[in-house]
Amino acid sequence: MSDASEAPAVEADGLSKSFDGQLAVDQLHLAVAPGEVFGLVGPDGAGKTTVLRMLSGALPPTAGTAKVLGFDVAAEAHRVHRAIGYLPQRFSLYQELTVEENLRFRARVYDLAGRALGDRLESLLNLTQLGRFRHRLAGALSGGMKQKLALAAALLPAPNVLLLDEPTTGVDPASRGDFWETLLGLAEKGTTVLAATAYMDEAERCRRVGLLYQGRLLVCGSPDEVRRQAGLSLLLVSCQPLLHGRSILQEALGVRWVEVFGDRLHVALGLGGTAEAVQESLERAGGRVTRLQPIEPTLEDVFFEFVRSRRETET
Ligand SMILES: Nc1ncnc2c1ncn2[C@@H]1O[C@H](COP(=O)(O)OP(=O)(O)OP(=O)(O)O)[C@@H](O)[C@H]1O
Ligand SMILES: [Mg+2]
Repeated sequence: MSDASEAPAVEADGLSKSFDGQLAVDQLHLAVAPGEVFGLVGPDGAGKTTVLRMLSGALPPTAGTAKVLGFDVAAEAHRVHRAIGYLPQRFSLYQELTVEENLRFRARVYDLAGRALGDRLESLLNLTQLGRFRHRLAGALSGGMKQKLALAAALLPAPNVLLLDEPTTGVDPASRGDFWETLLGLAEKGTTVLAATAYMDEAERCRRVGLLYQGRLLVCGSPDEVRRQAGLSLLLVSCQPLLHGRSILQEALGVRWVEVFGDRLHVALGLGGTAEAVQESLERAGGRVTRLQPIEPTLEDVFFEFVRSRRETET
């Protein structure tokens, strides 16, 4: 459990990275407490991987500083490297080695051997429920199992900080759920987890989330805090025909934006917008409204709103 008086496990101060003069990460300030689960979300190219790579000590920052477990990521990169667990965005283990061979091979980096290694392997195979598959080639594992193997490899040094780069992308929902249960269990025992994710249900499970957009952190807080901060007034609307309804509402006064979610619309009200006015606009245009009710915004709605506001201030 974390405590406000404890030093952060991960701390970034003005952390920046540019590639060929282009800023990929722009003055990131962040403090993640020991045992906290922090979710980093943001569209493709937002800078998530670049942040995680800098925090892992693998990529030197262009400006600013960051400390992980008290070690400076630039000056003490090798110490950071050995102290943390890092799960990269792309599967980085050997497809032609078995589960167990992969773990044994990776363990050499950490000078783990003998009894200590044997015990660690058993506990990691147990934790990730890969024991039954220990002799299976990594290349023959399902996507979800591959990611569990990658997690086991990241946990070999018994790290106090885990950096995970979209660890469950392409994994089915049940396995994603399993994976997150494991992460939350680790956090409960004190491991700090910083995970980039594209899934809003996963972001929802984090103690805090940060939205990265074009290298900048647009908002950061608990899921409820960022929801409040967005101040969205949102309606759930079912109407026929759906896409016609969307076009009508996109042009309607008092409507800020409209997004399709399955067979429904999420309609964000703008200044002066009301549910009655939305219903009237749809009906006037020949739409048949079967449902119209205020709802709590999802994190997806909230992030959409923050990105949209940012774009508006840019234009
Ligand atoms: N080694 C590199 N050389 C040049 N540009 C890079 C390099 N790595 C990343 N970039 C650029 O930096 C920006 C941020 O990339 P990054 O991979 O960090 O984004 P991301 O949020 O992880 O995206 P994704 O969701 O697609 O994984 C992008 O514009 C990318 O093209
Ligand atoms: Mg990435």
